[in-house]
Amino acid sequence: MTCSILVGGGWGDEGKGKCITYLCNYDKPNIIARAGVGPNAGHSVEFNGEKYGLRLTPSGFVHTESRLLIGAGVLIDPEVFLHEMDYLNKYNVKERSFVDYRCAIIEEDHKVRDKGSDHLYKKIGSTGTGCGPANSDRVMRTAKLAAEIPELEGYTTNVPQEINDSLDNGEDVFIEGSQGFGLSLYYGTYPFVTSKDTTASTAAADVGVGPTRIDEVIAVFKSYITRVGEGPFPTEMTQPEAEKMNLEEYGTVTGRRRRVGLFDMEMAKESCMINGATQIALTCVDRLFPGCERTTDYSELSGEIKRFIEEIEGETKVPVTIISTGPDLEDTIDLRDELL
Ligand code: GTP
Ligand code: IMP
Ligand code: MG
Repeated sequence: MTCSILVGGGWGDEGKGKCITYLCNYDKPNIIARAGVGPNAGHSVEFNGEKYGLRLTPSGFVHTESRLLIGAGVLIDPEVFLHEMDYLNKYNVKERSFVDYRCAIIEEDHKVRDKGSDHLYKKIGSTGTGCGPANSDRVMRTAKLAAEIPELEGYTTNVPQEINDSLDNGEDVFIEGSQGFGLSLYYGTYPFVTSKDTTASTAAADVGVGPTRIDEVIAVFKSYITRVGEGPFPTEMTQPEAEKMNLEEYGTVTGRRRRVGLFDMEMAKESCMINGATQIALTCVDRLFPGCERTTDYSELSGEIKRFIEEIEGETKVPVTIISTGPDLEDTIDLRDELL
């Protein structure tokens, strides 16, 4: 029985989608539970040569034996959820996806308020998906809950009960966070943050699992760092520098160009501490160090890459157990058997 949580260590878009797909396809948990804010997230999953962009469905959906649950802490936009049920139909998601009956709902008015707000949309650079206004209504206790929405009939469940029963039966549970440490309402670059905390403790609370039941916390870092939207970015590089290094990226949800910078060790240390990380997954190593694309063997990595990894381990005191060398789940070096 293992209960794992995966969280973003930076400002989101660390490649969580790829890591989750790999880990769930490999470890085959009984339940994959989505935590985090809501459909402001954009996770990319590449599997069998096809690419999927997801906003609410757990990224582990490619493992077709798992139940896919969305915790009460996550905001549901019924339109986005039902669209993904059709979009991913090939993977049998309709029969095994459920949302907690207490999830708060994003309504049309929340999206209008988000996009129409100079403070949220222009100053903070929000995704415009209605998450901030919906969380605000939830705090005011005026938001609707999933149990009240006719379109969600048949899709609601008691997520904490399912997860805790599953753990009692000795089964594995994988909890996926969204966004990243730097976007946490508590610990991020306030006010340029999202509308709730994004660390592992809140991810556990989102799905109704107590801290004593968590075995592993995997923090995902990209080998460089990106940020969409406004806010401080100490290691940011100029656009021409990023282009020269071939590190241009565009957002999955908004299509906005991502700001790019070098790995931020100070942020990584704080992120590992507050998340209580037990493992690090390091992604896009192939983009920072061309020549190692699709490598699956640690011994084939150059001395420069190994030194970079050792420096991260030395500073954070957390082992780098997963090294990602490409977007496909096959492009992965998995050191868990050696290091844990
Ligand atoms: P968030 O939940 O916002 O963090 O989304 P995400 O983790 O899925 O990342 P997102 O899709 O926003 O951006 C990451 C991009 O990098 C996607 O296009 C992935 O397919 C890709 N990617 C992930 N890991 C690797 C890697 O190791 N190498 C390369 N070249 N691309 C990767
Ligand atoms: P909101 O969560 O839509 O209110 O956006 C607040 C801030 O968080 C903005 O800077 C967004 O760009 C950022 N943000 C929210 N979700 C994500 C994500 O999944 N990846 C990257 N940035 C995000
Ligand atoms: Mg993303």
